[in-house]
Amino acid sequence: MSDEPPVVAVALNEESYTRELLLERGEFTLCVLSMDQLDEILFLGSVSGRDVDKLSVVGWRAAQAREVGAPVLDNALGVLECRVRQTVQVDEMTLILADVVRAEVVEGTFNDRHGWDLRRVKIPLHAAGRAFVEPGRLVLADAGRFRAGKG
Ligand SMILES: Cc1cc2nc3c(=O)[nH]c(=O)nc-3n(C[C@H](O)[C@H](O)[C@H](O)COP(=O)(O)O)c2cc1C
Repeated sequence: MSDEPPVVAVALNEESYTRELLLERGEFTLCVLSMDQLDEILFLGSVSGRDVDKLSVVGWRAAQAREVGAPVLDNALGVLECRVRQTVQVDEMTLILADVVRAEVVEGTFNDRHGWDLRRVKIPLHAAGRAFVEPGRLVLADAGRFRAGKG
């Protein structure tokens, strides 16, 4: 949503157990995962934590985040620790705006100027169903081509 202050937005369905816990505690983490974890991602997004201990099925473990009272995946490329700032109800979806209070990435995978180093990390974007897109190339626009002027 915004770099300064760092704010993220997530949208969660009203049936989601994640939504219930997140609103109850007012804190959560966002974990950035990798293309080689696709099968796990699909599974974790297909069953509810109300019915299944999902992490144990895929053999993953959660640790405690540093700043917020929420679990964090110990095998993530990056983690954002977040505190809920505002919620907006849109039919059955809740849009959650949250302040990022701490951010951590695996060393050497991210730089402040251009973001993720896509030569080193492959981060899946969800397309639809079990389809994902792999962003593979960083392309810089020409910042000097157009200039604002009086015309
Ligand atoms: C790749 C992927 C992305 C998803 N993104 C969202 C999302 O942004 N919001 C949402 O409410 N559900 C999303 N889902 C669906 C939930 O993960 C799914 O309903 C899950 O069973 C909810 O689990 P929970 O009840 O433990 O929270 C996504 C599923 C997948 C596979």
